[in-house]
Amino acid sequence: MNYLDSLANLGVGGAHPGGLQLTKAMLKREQIGPETFVLDIGCGTGQTAAFIAENYSCSVTAVDNHPLMIEKALKRFKDRNLPVTAICLDIEKLKLDQQFDMIVAESVLAFTDISLSLASAIQVLRPSGRLLAVEIVVDSSMSETDRALIMSFYGFRKLLTEAEWKDRFFQAGFKQIEVDQPIIDPSSISLDDAQDFHFSKSKLEEALNLLQEHQELTQAYEDILHYRIFRCSR
Ligand SMILES: C[S@@+](CC[C@H](N)C(=O)[O-])C[C@H]1O[C@@H](n2cnc3c(N)ncnc32)[C@H](O)[C@@H]1O
Repeated sequence: MNYLDSLANLGVGGAHPGGLQLTKAMLKREQIGPETFVLDIGCGTGQTAAFIAENYSCSVTAVDNHPLMIEKALKRFKDRNLPVTAICLDIEKLKLDQQFDMIVAESVLAFTDISLSLASAIQVLRPSGRLLAVEIVVDSSMSETDRALIMSFYGFRKLLTEAEWKDRFFQAGFKQIEVDQPIIDPSSISLDDAQDFHFSKSKLEEALNLLQEHQELTQAYEDILHYRIFRCSR
């Protein structure tokens, strides 16, 4: 079992830094209405896709290449009677007939071949559309040993600094990149959001051990590992 398998096994909703509170803060600055077409790439168990569909009544498509993630996302959408389309797809080879006004990628791109994922994403983004990406950024001072440890535990294909991420977005064809990191108001954190887990019965202990290891790594590297929101326009 790897880190992503453990997230799928535990059915973690909001498996990105800042969780749903960060998502809410990030979306507040965007213009989303009933006519907006949103694509959530690497949707995990579908927490963000469900939130968007419920709160903005717009068209939402959610894709992920992990079958258990998609199974749990589909269950979430069905239980809440939400008209979200969920598809098991590799975002490095996205082939969708539709074009989107907004693509959301929350803690996803670093797990993929970034050039391929961004090339795929930009192809399904309307010219006026925006990509919102929440990604881990590292300090350039990070040692090779620490870098190797983090990449191997999480299965990241790359660990990039903020400047390197911006370069990647520019190389993919985005013209304008805004970077921010909203401050989360602790009073906005609801217990319901914090409890968004949907456990599978098998291999629970192994999954919980990996989650524990993730928490220890996050604490140990809190001064070096950060995150940013990249708002990318064409
Ligand atoms: C850290 S989780 C974040 C999930 C979700 N965005 C969230 O915030 O809860 C990363 C997700 O990206 C998905 N993923 C990784 N590589 C992918 C790929 N090539 N194509 C589609 N999904 C991918 C994983 O299966 C996983 O669900």
